[in-house]
Amino acid sequence: MLILISDAFDPGLPQLLEKFGEVTDDNNRMPEADVILVRSKTKVNREYIDEAKKLKLVIRGGVGIDNIDSEYAASKGIKVHNTPKASSIAVAEVAMTLMLSMSNNLVMGHNGLLEGKWLKKECTRRELYGKTLALIGMGNIAVETAKRAKAFGMNTVAYRKSGNMSEYADVKQSIEEAVQDADYISLHLPLTDETREIINAELIASMKSDAIIINTGRGNTVDAEAMSKALVEGKIGGYATDVWPSDPPPSDYPLLEAPNCLFLPHIGANSPENLLRIGQEVLDIISENQKEGLFS
Ligand SMILES: NC(=O)c1ccc[n+]([C@@H]2O[C@H](COP(=O)([O-])OP(=O)(O)OC[C@H]3O[C@@H](n4cnc5c(N)ncnc54)[C@H](O)[C@@H]3O)[C@@H](O)[C@H]2O)c1
Repeated sequence: MLILISDAFDPGLPQLLEKFGEVTDDNNRMPEADVILVRSKTKVNREYIDEAKKLKLVIRGGVGIDNIDSEYAASKGIKVHNTPKASSIAVAEVAMTLMLSMSNNLVMGHNGLLEGKWLKKECTRRELYGKTLALIGMGNIAVETAKRAKAFGMNTVAYRKSGNMSEYADVKQSIEEAVQDADYISLHLPLTDETREIINAELIASMKSDAIIINTGRGNTVDAEAMSKALVEGKIGGYATDVWPSDPPPSDYPLLEAPNCLFLPHIGANSPENLLRIGQEVLDIISENQKEGLFS
């Protein structure tokens, strides 16, 4: 069996995988691979799947599988797995980092000092304590974010597709109801036909004008033109994101020019601790599929 590691995983993983067969990171050998490990960089689309003649299993180290054409893979008898639980803590910590950085004008203060400026007056702050956080999507990552927000003394409300009970947030019946009184809105949605640009001009207009949006879900859940316009017109407090329409975003992506933004280059899942957890889930998935006879 040949296992191709196509994207960045824990450096110790290749050695651990050797018990299953040969392991390579040479993408030229993709057509020979039985198992391919990807994160978000490799796009497992139709052309890719057509070339991967021996492929039986694709494992996405992470949560979202929007870089994999799962339907087409299934039609070719190829199994697709992700590692759904591993990344929750890592991404929740990034959501909190963005929330705290925006609330304390961290980048302005830092850059000011590097430029010889003492921006004590300009660096306005506000506390998270007592503020309302709306979590949009209330899955694994949002739950970890809610736990941390509660430790900061925040009130948490949420909106999600199904289910209205949560011990971590007051789940509202509609997205409008969830965002209307929120000081912070943290997006934790997968990208689907339903969630694409769910954060649109109309919804932004219903938010508090000083609300801060944090996006660690997917870039295209936000209408970038509408968000950019709201930021320029002062109708929303700020937008901080780890996620983009593509990695990296196109140079004309509207939010790159907008004020009161804070950007990270899609690092939510990239802690070494998380890569270790992802690696363990990968080992478990291959082992289970081997037991079920997928490779024999
Ligand atoms: N920044 C990063 O590096 C990074 C890392 C991992 C995951 N992610 C993103 O975070 C997302 C959430 O991850 P998770 O582990 O919490 O996933 P999850 O599957 O546990 O939770 C997803 C939540 O979204 C809700 N949802 C789905 N469609 C909806 C809709 N149309 N309207 C309202 N709610 C809807 C679901 O009900 C669920 O509560 C992933 O899909 C992925 O896109 C980003």
